[in-house]
This record gives sequence, C-alpha cells and structure tokens, in this order.
Amino acid sequence: MNEDIEKFFLDRGCLIEEKAIEEIERRGGINYIKKNEKKIDFTSPIFAVSNLPTVNEFSIIKEFHLDGYPGISESFVDLFKSRYNFLHSKLNERSKNHFFTPVSKLKRDNGQVFASGIVSDYSESKKGYGILEMEDEMNSIKVILPKTYKDVIIRDEVIGVSGQFSKDGTAIFAESVYRPEASREPSLSGSSVKVMVISDIHVGSKNFIEDSFLNMIDYVNTQGISFVIMNGDLVDGIGVYPDQESDLAINDINLQYKKLATLTSKFNNNVRVIVIPGNHDIVYPTEPQNPLPKEINALFPSNVMSLSNPVWVEIGERIFLLYHGTSIFDFLEAIPGTTMNDTDKIMIEMLRRGHLAPEYGKNLSFIPLKSDYYLIDPVPDVLITGHVHSHSITTHKGILAINASTFQEQTNYQRMMNFNPKPGIGTVVDTYDLSSFSVKF
Ligand SMILES: [Fe+2]
Repeated sequence: MNEDIEKFFLDRGCLIEEKAIEEIERRGGINYIKKNEKKIDFTSPIFAVSNLPTVNEFSIIKEFHLDGYPGISESFVDLFKSRYNFLHSKLNERSKNHFFTPVSKLKRDNGQVFASGIVSDYSESKKGYGILEMEDEMNSIKVILPKTYKDVIIRDEVIGVSGQFSKDGTAIFAESVYRPEASREPSLSGSSVKVMVISDIHVGSKNFIEDSFLNMIDYVNTQGISFVIMNGDLVDGIGVYPDQESDLAINDINLQYKKLATLTSKFNNNVRVIVIPGNHDIVYPTEPQNPLPKEINALFPSNVMSLSNPVWVEIGERIFLLYHGTSIFDFLEAIPGTTMNDTDKIMIEMLRRGHLAPEYGKNLSFIPLKSDYYLIDPVPDVLITGHVHSHSITTHKGILAINASTFQEQTNYQRMMNFNPKPGIGTVVDTYDLSSFSVKF
C-alpha cells in the first residue's frame, strides 16, 4: 500500500517523505490521495507532511448555552411554530410532484389534497381506523387514516398526508402519510479519524465497572483513537432517584467528578475527550442542558471538552449529533412492543421524524425556547444516544446511529425491572467511511 502512495507521487514528479506516507495512511491511504488530488500541490520535489491539505479534525457546529433567560418564550408557541415551519419545508423539499399545504390554507375542493401539520391528537376507532387531529398555528383538521396504515403516529410530530376531503370538508380521508426523513448521501470523508463512543459511565455508583473503563482507556491510547465521546451520565449523581445512597460508592457529587477527572487524566494528552451531561449530571434536568459548570470543568485535564446536551460537532469532516437520550422512553411508550434493547429502531424513528423528541410533556421537560433545538438540523453523519444502558449500531439512509454502551453493570433497580444492560462495550467509528465496530472491555 505504501508503494502505491509512493508511486502516485513519483508519477507526479515528487519523492514523498516517510512521515507524509504515515499521515496519508492515517487519513485513508491511497483513496484519500485520489479523492483530494486537486487540493494537493505536487510542485515541490520532496513532499512533506506540511504539504498535505489541512484537515478540520474538530469544530463545534451547534451548541446550547443558556446564560440567564435570553431566548426564552413565555409559552411554547414559538417553539412549535419553528418546529412546524422547518419540518413543513423539509416535507416539501423531499416531495417532487406535489406541495403540502398548511392546514389553515387548505381549499376545500373535490380534488386530491396534500396537507401538513402537527399531530395534536391521535386515537383509534373501534373499527381500527386511526383518527388524528392535525394543526398549524391557525387551524386544525381531522384526518382519518386507512385501516391498512400500521406505522406509529406520535403526538406532536409533523407529518404530511395525501387524500380526499370528506363531503362536508371537515376531515381528510388519507391515503398516505409522509415524514421529513433525515438522510445523507453516502460519501467518503477526506480523513480517517477514529472515534471511541461510550456513554453512561456512572462514576460513583457501586456498579461502576472501573476495570473495564481502564481497559477502554488503554485501548484508546494504544490503537490510534483520536477522540473519545462520553455521551452523558458521566457520574451517578446524588438524589437522582429514591434511596440512591445505598447504590453509591462515592456519595459526594464533586468527589464523583474528581474521580472521573483522575481517570480521564490517564488518556494520552493527544486524545481529545468530549463529555456531555445526562440526567444524572450536575446540571438542571430540563432540556437542552448546558455544559457542566466551570468549577467542575476545572477538575478535568485540558484535553477534555465539556459541551451541551444535545450538541452537534464536526470530527474528521463528519457531523456527529450527540444526544443523551431522555426521549427514548417516550418513544418506548409510544411504539407498542418495543423494549430498551430496541434503541436501533427508536433512533430510526427519530431520524424519520427529523426530530429527537417530538412528544411534548412526557418523560422529558423542555425549556420554552423561541426555536426548537431538537430538530435534527443539520442532519448528522452520526447520531449518538445513550441513556438506557443498552447497545446498538444501525445505519439508516446514510446515517450511522449508535446507542452507546454504559460502564455501569446491572443495578438493583434494573434487576427489579428485569432489564439486562449491555455494559463495557466501546463503539469505534472511522470517519473515513463511517465503518464501525464494537470492543468489549
Ligand atoms: Fe445512565
């Protein structure tokens, strides 16, 4: 393979230094060179690492940070307005032959109707027809789904329907339902950066599996991993659920973070660690959540970056969307027959709806922001969740979706609930081709 790279450069009149070959190998080898040929200057007789195009290894794309109360609305009207407007435009971008009209602008005539709206209510008739109420800001209409429609409707999601008006014009008999459907064109990145994805460390819990965590650090340090993502529930916290004290090995939250900071200092200095909060961390539980407070950040070594939940970052020219995953329980309740081991299906349902948490007012409490931060915008290459202590990897319409594993083994509560977590598994992603694999620690 090295010879291929050497020959490629020789054919263009330059000798390549060994260090430059190593860097090219790291970025994806000969395929990287072929893909980036136009960006490379072959004029110098000896080609060094510094002649390679610079790679954007990391940047923050969209982060939440609430200082005081700016951007907060008195009600959720603005938030739902921005949700509807954005997803309505996505529905219309996707559909080539027709335009979905907002409910309040529908004209009652005899032809076929294409309408979009937010689902404000959903029920099933005794005869098995799905009946929903679909609304925009000004008006609402009843939609009767065909008996054959088996897909799940989630309250507060934005959908498009096609069908016919009832004779009195008060309802639509729908033939089809359409969704915004987040998707990415499959592509190769300009660089190969390896990212370790884990979640739910729960340091401070008696059930934290420190040996596995240390094995994971050792793997990262020795196997060319450049980034580690810790997707929330970094520590077990204090008072998160009744009688938590009996499950704690460290019953001071600051000491729990100190312990995690000591552990993260074992990563090589050049490994960059991204941490976001979850429902067990020391930030308010209302979402979106700010990054960890300054005094906690100060405990960590400088290669640890503390970001919000959710957050969009770019690593190796790929967009990663990190969301801890509180809404997973809302999806579990809404989709019959799903269990905590169905996180792959649930992440697909998020992507289909273009939204991380469509249903309002269940397990998740939101800050009434002026715009909806939970829209899947921009569409990521990789969606990462955690929260339920399961583990899954799936791909949907060009998007890699990972439910990251935990480093807490089964708790008494989980035993009581008959849930078997899948702890101690790292997922490694290569940004070059979005390939991934799991490592059990
Ligand atoms: Fe957790």
